[in-house]
Amino acid sequence: MTTYEDHTISGVPITIEGVSKIFGPELERPFKALKEVTLSIKAGEFVSVVGASGCGKSTLMLMVAGLLQQTTGTIAVNGHLVNKPVTDVGIAFQDHLLLDFRTAMQNVMLHSDIRGLPRKQMEERAKELFAQLRLERAMDKYPKQLSGGMRQRVSLIRSLVHDPAVLMMDEPLGALDALTRLQVRMDLEALWMRRRPTVLFITHSVEEAVGLSDRIIVMSPSPGEVVDDIRVELERPRPITLGDAPEFGAYVDRIHRHFERLGVLHGLGKLPQNA
Ligand SMILES: Nc1ncnc2c1ncn2[C@@H]1O[C@H](COP(=O)(O)OP(=O)(O)O)[C@@H](O)[C@H]1O
Ligand SMILES: [Mg+2]
Repeated sequence: MTTYEDHTISGVPITIEGVSKIFGPELERPFKALKEVTLSIKAGEFVSVVGASGCGKSTLMLMVAGLLQQTTGTIAVNGHLVNKPVTDVGIAFQDHLLLDFRTAMQNVMLHSDIRGLPRKQMEERAKELFAQLRLERAMDKYPKQLSGGMRQRVSLIRSLVHDPAVLMMDEPLGALDALTRLQVRMDLEALWMRRRPTVLFITHSVEEAVGLSDRIIVMSPSPGEVVDDIRVELERPRPITLGDAPEFGAYVDRIHRHFERLGVLHGLGKLPQNA
């Protein structure tokens, strides 16, 4: 079984009930971005959402973070209805969004400063995270002096420095080259295993989802709805070499088959309508 069960779980549960999104309901042609989604995430669970581009993954995440109002349904984080931006959360996006004129450490401390969190304690924790990601020497460098992978790890540290109960990541590894991506993926798993925040991880990489998740939510193309909810029973940590194992491949295959059935993967055979 898993080797991380007795660790502290710092995460909190998230419940999503009948949540849908229509953009511009007042317009003549409103756009349905998300069909009703119902999903219950346990405290400390690592949940990935996979689906074609445009199926509503980011929309869902923004609603859970309280940054976008859903059209129907309710969302609760740790039992509290979300109706304003959730604070006990760390967010990382594909674009690292570091400020050029602040060093890596200053970037990491940015939100802590804004939130007025105890600076000394935050700095200690930031240093620990820099060390864990082998980035000590990057601490006092400016974003321009760092590689893409380093910048993305700095951004990861920033999202984790206040030890959030929930970590939301929207394709955080998307802009990295393949090798760096593998490295950051392993780093992310290690970081998660230490504190076990609840993670909502959005990706279009099926391998990444299988490599990282306790559960994978598969979404249909736009307007998105949940078509499968898969429990990944692979031991942790999951080394990259696990990708060659048949049980890993079986999960990947199951998801690919959904995409094939939904026309996401075999659409290449057809010419676009307006070509
Ligand atoms: N503010 C908005 N107004 C209108 N349409 C939007 C808005 N945000 C997203 N959409 C549309 O909703 C759909 C889902 O978007 P998004 O959640 O970003 O998809 P994904 O993250 O899965 O690629 C897309 O078709 C997108 O163009
Ligand atoms: Mg998106």
